[in-house]
Amino acid sequence: MPKDVSKEKSIRKAKTTTELVISAIIIGTSVYIGKSCFDRAVTVPSTKKEAAQIEEINIPDPSEAIDPNKIVFTAKPVNTKLKFSGDLVLVNNDYQYYRTGNEKLVSIMEKNDENGRSNFTAVDYDYTILEQVYSPLAKMVDDWYSIYSNDTLIVYGSHRTTEFQQQLYDQFTANTAGDGEAPIVAPPGFSEHETGLAFDFSETVEYDYQGTGDFQWLNDNCHKYGFVIRYAADKETITEYRSEPWHFRYVGIPHSKYMKENNLCLEEYIELLRNAHPYSGEHLEVTDEFGAAYEIYFFPSDDAEEYTNVPVPTGVKYDISGNNVDGFIVTVHKDAKVEIGEENPTLTTAPPSTETTDTTETTTAETTEESY
Ligand code: DAL
Ligand code: ZN
Repeated sequence: MPKDVSKEKSIRKAKTTTELVISAIIIGTSVYIGKSCFDRAVTVPSTKKEAAQIEEINIPDPSEAIDPNKIVFTAKPVNTKLKFSGDLVLVNNDYQYYRTGNEKLVSIMEKNDENGRSNFTAVDYDYTILEQVYSPLAKMVDDWYSIYSNDTLIVYGSHRTTEFQQQLYDQFTANTAGDGEAPIVAPPGFSEHETGLAFDFSETVEYDYQGTGDFQWLNDNCHKYGFVIRYAADKETITEYRSEPWHFRYVGIPHSKYMKENNLCLEEYIELLRNAHPYSGEHLEVTDEFGAAYEIYFFPSDDAEEYTNVPVPTGVKYDISGNNVDGFIVTVHKDAKVEIGEENPTLTTAPPSTETTDTTETTTAETTEESY
């Protein structure tokens, strides 16, 4: 065979092979595209169906419609220094009290006179407490008196200046140095008495109030009026004070009720709110004796900023108190609706002074006529 013919044959054979391969590729691709289109043709209705299902799911179910009673929260700028003031301040050996200068103190005896109340008294007209503490105190005594008709109850310790606390402290430490017992007088600057939220009961027969006999009712029921017995025997290692059945501290009703029912001293309660009931977590729910519902949560102070944006509810009453440590406690009165725009009574905006010494007020009470 001539060389050229043989070469031509080879070329043709190669061409035919190439054509066959190309044809195979074309056919293969066509089959793939066709299958792919078919597959799509199958999946399209399925996708549409899924979309329809999603739409259906998104249609609000009337039974899951927005709850008009659900609380909506908004941020309220609160002066960060106000963490040092309010009914829930923790004042103890670790946390000093800083007076605000805005405390509204009232004379217990003047208030008793104004209200024609003679079922208890105080040592003299200079014995004062914060204004918001008087009514719960008077109501508690009225209810107690209606049962016992006992005329001997007296307030024997109430708001103290830092100077007066210093006098008591000096007197107490001089008399008890080295007796090894837990103290019953706080160092100046670190006493709850300086807040105006605490008072001591005594009685005018023995001047030895132990919360027993007729008085036991007061100690057993004070939580219903917003008070706690601040220094209990079983909490001595936490409070660092000996049992003081005469020392009552105002914290407000939902808090006093929860503390009593769960046997928590103030140190434990403040810690519980911080750790277990932050704003971002599960809020504490408390219902009082009369069925009123409260929601309570902790929000940390933004100490680097002048103002902390505290989340507060809209449309219902709330209180904010500093904890005197690291933030704010918000108490939502869930049943107390307020109109939009209505002023919600809360903290004053003036920051507390950080003076450690109270020089604006004096008291005439003798240290010998004061309990601790
Ligand atoms: N008796 C309490 C601890 C006080 O002096 O404040
Ligand atoms: Zn006291």
